[in-house]
Amino acid sequence: MLLSRFSKAAGAAAAFAAIVLAGMLINPPRGQAQGDENDGESKVERGLAIAPVPLNLKGRNRELVGLGSYIVNAQGDCNGCHTMDPSTEYTATGNPYLLDIHHGGPFKGKTQVNPKTYLGGGSDFGAFPGPGPFPHIVSRNLTPDKTGRPEGGRTFQEFLTIMKTGKDYDHLHPTCTGAPNGTCLPAPFNGELLQIMPWPTFQNMSRDEIRAIYEYLSAIPCIDTVVAGQPQLRNVCQ
Ligand code: HEC
Repeated sequence: MLLSRFSKAAGAAAAFAAIVLAGMLINPPRGQAQGDENDGESKVERGLAIAPVPLNLKGRNRELVGLGSYIVNAQGDCNGCHTMDPSTEYTATGNPYLLDIHHGGPFKGKTQVNPKTYLGGGSDFGAFPGPGPFPHIVSRNLTPDKTGRPEGGRTFQEFLTIMKTGKDYDHLHPTCTGAPNGTCLPAPFNGELLQIMPWPTFQNMSRDEIRAIYEYLSAIPCIDTVVAGQPQLRNVCQ
């Protein structure tokens, strides 16, 4: 008697487990919930799922775009610096650093990157190397222009050189030849190279990974960033 009741319960539990398991196989858990494990999911699929903006995949390599998104959005934190300002990096209700709505804050519980500033550049890191007549270092606009090429029309060769060597094709802050005047970098800083930008770390990525980043940056929406005194952030979208 006892035994049969026990086995009945065990049978029901096993059946329930089987249903849950079958459900998971048919409909595997996806990456929506934040902080969940996605061990089985490829970087490409994960990358495509976490991109915070609509992607233009037309004429582009989906695998590369997905991998590029994974590197940019899950590892490289490119938008942490290449956004306009920490206060506009997330939407009004999607800033995970703020108190949530149950504690009097605006955060609604789901992190939401602000698409209006995504990789559009403009973060001002202040006078460099410190207070004084030195230029401000400002992150650049990485979004594609009307040519469809990222970073305002850069070729892949140029992009690769930037990521491998830190070369500043725009020569925004050359090394001073005379007294510092607010536009040049004092020696020993090499004004021909990007400062603050972590290219000495990114240079360790493979060519294929940098290619994936480039492909991803070509698939995101164009942003024309308008900041007084920073014409290099402007971008021709149409
Ligand atoms: C710690 C902040 C930081 C992070 C993280 C960062 N960047 Fe940068 N990046 C900068 C800054 C600042 C500049 C401009 C530096 C200067 O003017 O000297 C820059 C410049 C660049 C440039 C040169 C743009 C041009 O017009 O020549 C490229 C390309 C670039 N970053 C790509 C990336 C990519 C891709 C990632 C992510 C994989 C990334 N950055 C992550 C801060 C950052």
